[in-house]
Amino acid sequence: MCGIIGYIGKKNSVGKILIEGLKRLEYRGYDSAGLAIVQDNSILLRKTAGKITRLEEKVANLDISGNLGIAHTRWATHGKPTTLNAHPHSDCKGQIVLIHNGIIENYQTLKKSLQKDGHLFKTETDTEVLAHLIEQFYDGSRLEDAVQKALEVVEGTYGIIVISASEPDKMVAARNGSPVVVGVGENETFIASDVAAILQHTRQVIYLEDQQMVVATPEHFSTMTIRNERVEHIVQEVDWDLEMIEKGGFEHFMLKEIFEQPETIKNAMRGRLIDEYGISKLGGLNMSEEQLRKIERIVLIACGTSWHAALLGEYMIEEKARIPVEVEYASEFRYRNPIIEPNTLVMAISQSGETVDTLAAMREAMEKGARCMGICNVVGSTIARESQGGVYIHAGPEIGVASTKAFTSQITVLSLLALMLGRMRNISSSEGKDIISALREIPLQVEKILEKNDDIREISKKTCCHNNFLYLGRGANYPVALEGALKLKEISYVHAEGYPAAEMKHGPIALIDKNMPVVIICPRDNAYQKIIGNINEVKARDGIIIAITSENNDEIIDMADHVIFIPQTLDFLYPILASIPLQLMAYHIAVLRGCHVDQPRNLAKSVTVE
Ligand code: G6P
Repeated sequence: MCGIIGYIGKKNSVGKILIEGLKRLEYRGYDSAGLAIVQDNSILLRKTAGKITRLEEKVANLDISGNLGIAHTRWATHGKPTTLNAHPHSDCKGQIVLIHNGIIENYQTLKKSLQKDGHLFKTETDTEVLAHLIEQFYDGSRLEDAVQKALEVVEGTYGIIVISASEPDKMVAARNGSPVVVGVGENETFIASDVAAILQHTRQVIYLEDQQMVVATPEHFSTMTIRNERVEHIVQEVDWDLEMIEKGGFEHFMLKEIFEQPETIKNAMRGRLIDEYGISKLGGLNMSEEQLRKIERIVLIACGTSWHAALLGEYMIEEKARIPVEVEYASEFRYRNPIIEPNTLVMAISQSGETVDTLAAMREAMEKGARCMGICNVVGSTIARESQGGVYIHAGPEIGVASTKAFTSQITVLSLLALMLGRMRNISSSEGKDIISALREIPLQVEKILEKNDDIREISKKTCCHNNFLYLGRGANYPVALEGALKLKEISYVHAEGYPAAEMKHGPIALIDKNMPVVIICPRDNAYQKIIGNINEVKARDGIIIAITSENNDEIIDMADHVIFIPQTLDFLYPILASIPLQLMAYHIAVLRGCHVDQPRNLAKSVTVE
């Protein structure tokens, strides 16, 4: 949510670096953008409502060279997404300029007091108070001192980068609750909200912790706390490369990421399956076998698509390991005074590892003495760093705002966890081996589903004109229905609801008529006959049926309007396969309806504010 980038160094092309960086960050927010560049002891500041391309046009005929600058792409919280409210924001004299990701919670009190002192405010944002506060404490040298004093009185979350025209060789950044990564180059330093923005320049990075800051000059940088205590930093190497964050010939990142799934699912399993014993190994959990055996309850916390993965985790773990699992929205969990017993394991599931509610919920659980694990994609993210152990899903960068490959990798990892815990308790070696061989087939089976892309596009063409969709599934396919509906809502703005199939009779059936496509996930499992009942009920009310079912289940052809056949697998792995056609359908419907698939309105990839 909101992307920030800053550059200081020997290259004279700061404008170009900032615009390129913003384009890579655009998935974090895209309602307005702006940049500020230090030139001859003054600051060139340009901003605009709309996407980065509008900013690019605005500066196309300007000299945007220089060695120091900052830029921002916004996801509005306080103040409308207008040009005026876009970042960077400045002090009264336009000498101190800053960008911010987060929320200053006590901004109204601070604003009143600054106004009394004569500061003139230009915008409706919470961020502007920071610029004036720093101005209040600044004597024209040592910008970092003024920033520290300002942060002492600020309450809330921030990832900020600050520059001053009077110190054209210094960039100051600080973090509290919103991610900040420092890119280390040769005679240059980059600062950004995530590595995607700086990857083309360096893979050496430092992740700032909360209440830490960095002061960079062209030749040097140092890290400290916001109370000016020295901090030893650790430079880490990012293992993502540039190719991974480009579209690679696909029209959208979302489509590219859907098509990456045979590979990403394989990566989620790589090195973690031991065929001989029918077991899985998740070393990153940092727990001994004894500790794992003692787990009496698991709480999974997450938001959005990751929450749907958690629901699937509940089915998988309870079925295979017989450990009670609870799934909680992180945003609810953090304010609920949750019950944490000594043998409760809490797992925070988050693609980005930065979602503010998931992070806060995890901290709350640790505060109450829980052992907390992370299931994250982004290596070095805050949840990954602060948890006591965990599992990386290794899906590679996910840029499309609607999560796809991260979801299937999360459920793959959860199936490995279910297998691991199950083998310690409930399931035999031969069942473990069956699960492993089914898992090993999944990537190829996903490829087979992706080959049906054209057929799925045709079904989408026939149904994309409808404004309401219902998704139904039973058992573990109920979360798949929820996720299918969410994908459609997110990117095509079509109203869609996911329901447990049997619950259809308790409400949604009232909505069914010839204008209601109903997507039904109906594998040939032990609930198959029951779901056939649902299909007939929809049919009797003229609903349009799109069935996702197992190959060779030809009887369904006569009942459904459209059928998507997917390969057969174990019931508990079926959700991985069933999710793929639903992703493709959501994608095609959004494209056919002319929606901006990778940047859906009002959404952001990483929700770092409450
Ligand atoms: C946002 C994104 C979703 C994502 C959710 C949780 O809402 O748009 O795609 O599922 O955040 O994100 P996380 O990074 O914690 O998985």
